[in-house]
Amino acid sequence: MPEHAPATAPRWAARSVSAALPDFPWDHLTVYGERARAHPDGVVDLSIGTPVDATPEVVQQALRDAADSPGYPTTIGRAETRQACVDWLARRFGVTGLDVDGVLPVVGSKELIASMPVHLGLGPDDLVVYPELAYPTYEVGARLAGARTVATDSLTSLGPERVSMLWLNSPSNPTGRVLPVDHLRKVVDWCRERGTLLVSDECYLECAWESRPVSVLHPDVCGGDHTGILTVQSLSKRSNLAGYRCAFAAGDPAVVGELLAVRKNLGLMMPGPQQHAMRVALDDDRHVAEQHARYARRRADLKGAFEAVGFRVDASEAALYLWLTRGEPCWETVGWLADRGILAAPGDFYGSAGRRHVRVAFTASDERVAAAVRRLGG
Ligand SMILES: Cc1ncc(COP(=O)(O)O)c(C=O)c1O
Repeated sequence: MPEHAPATAPRWAARSVSAALPDFPWDHLTVYGERARAHPDGVVDLSIGTPVDATPEVVQQALRDAADSPGYPTTIGRAETRQACVDWLARRFGVTGLDVDGVLPVVGSKELIASMPVHLGLGPDDLVVYPELAYPTYEVGARLAGARTVATDSLTSLGPERVSMLWLNSPSNPTGRVLPVDHLRKVVDWCRERGTLLVSDECYLECAWESRPVSVLHPDVCGGDHTGILTVQSLSKRSNLAGYRCAFAAGDPAVVGELLAVRKNLGLMMPGPQQHAMRVALDDDRHVAEQHARYARRRADLKGAFEAVGFRVDASEAALYLWLTRGEPCWETVGWLADRGILAAPGDFYGSAGRRHVRVAFTASDERVAAAVRRLGG
């Protein structure tokens, strides 16, 4: 043993935070990735929803224009950037009553989702509820805070339980389901009666194919009163700039103010050039329409090809995914697709209710989508 080796394990190692977090499921997919990569024409990776098309030129130019940035940005962000967030929600989604004091820029929405329970002081006495099939970071954030968790879509199943934070995600990752206005209204009422903070992850609002998603901040849902409601918005998918990390929280100014008060102590601020790029991106609808048309074509081609070989498409009205089943355990379907050089995400990554589905992203290039269609026999 080297002389300087500690006699006991370091004190930090005794309380492993990562051990309290859910298993990182993507590691299990590695062997299927290898199988798919063995295809002579290369893998078609439809397992993750990462944009591959260029960041729109208008946004790239905005980033270049703001490249000279010697001073620190502020956590609250620039007034014009926050105003662009307000204007975008009003213009595209009919949100009324939102002011800049209800908006907070964040460094991509994932960090906000993962840190919010800790930043709002939740702990072992709190219950966090999220959808039965859900983006895994809702659970990660709750576990990091040591809060209890329940994955359910049924509010009645919660009985008299006191819920501190309830997550919605419409359009949904992974299913692409869109929650109708009357359902959203019922959830808002339920949360208000119980003093539950409703947090709605709306990062796919602009990615809709067969129905029109509605923000919980819309007056038809919340009556124009944002008390107790926060939404999470992201430009990653809308504007092909996941690499810039541009997102924001919008809703109850009291909740935004508390997050701001904590986050400014932690240096969690969006870089200045990104704030400028985000403003320009939010003010421009043209690139969104172009990208929407691209995704619509890819989605139609893949949907047709999967249906032709006997897959059933469930939900999938919006977001960037097809939620597919062949009526068999998801890992069998993942294997069947991997043998054809196609990588999909198993539905059980998102909750046990997904054990007979796979999630297929249509964020791959036209060339790769055409290869998948050919391999499926189209
Ligand atoms: C439902 C959902 N929320 C949040 C995110 C995170 O997006 P970002 O951190 O790029 O804003 C994703 C990314 O795929 C997502 O699917």
